[in-house]
Amino acid sequence: MNFNEVLLKRESVRNYDPAKPVDIDTLKIILEAGRISPSAANYQPWEFWLISSPEMLEKVKPCYERQWIADAPHILVVTGDQNQAWERSDGFNSLQTDLAIAMHQMVLAATNEGVGTCWVTNFKPDILRKALGLKETIKVFGITPLGYPHDNFTKRTAIMRKPMEAVVIYC
Ligand SMILES: Cc1cc2nc3c(=O)[nH]c(=O)nc-3n(C[C@H](O)[C@H](O)[C@H](O)COP(=O)(O)O)c2cc1C
Repeated sequence: MNFNEVLLKRESVRNYDPAKPVDIDTLKIILEAGRISPSAANYQPWEFWLISSPEMLEKVKPCYERQWIADAPHILVVTGDQNQAWERSDGFNSLQTDLAIAMHQMVLAATNEGVGTCWVTNFKPDILRKALGLKETIKVFGITPLGYPHDNFTKRTAIMRKPMEAVVIYC
């Protein structure tokens, strides 16, 4: 796949095959895409939690009660520390920007490997914090399931977005 094909192929997958875990080499390719992400001042204020063990999955999955989350063989959690992120003179903190870039690089790398993802931020943070034993300063930014789409997953037929003229300003 070339890069544009990856961009077009990526969509939120909400239907996973629980019987098909992703092999560790492929998972490492995905994690590497996060590790090499850019961040403000190169501070890399992140940690990537790859959850695959049945014990940890059982603790983490109640943070977002959906059958497709329950079916996913892996959950990737991106966390970060505001105290480790770059801050501008007016107080703007780059943590969320840095973590969004890292998360989406991993999402795109997964797509390139044929692995399904879905950005999830509507989780219950307290459940995740407790499951991962996070200290106070660490924020849970986002999670995504990682897994192969189920055989009966139907790909979207169109990408529903605002038209170009509504979002691009040439001047
Ligand atoms: C920051 C962010 C948070 C999201 N949170 C959720 C979520 O909590 N649950 C969910 O099912 N989808 C979530 N999504 C997926 C969006 O609904 C989805 O990306 C959007 O509808 C476009 O569809 P597509 O990803 O298939 O292109 C989130 C996406 C982003 C970028």
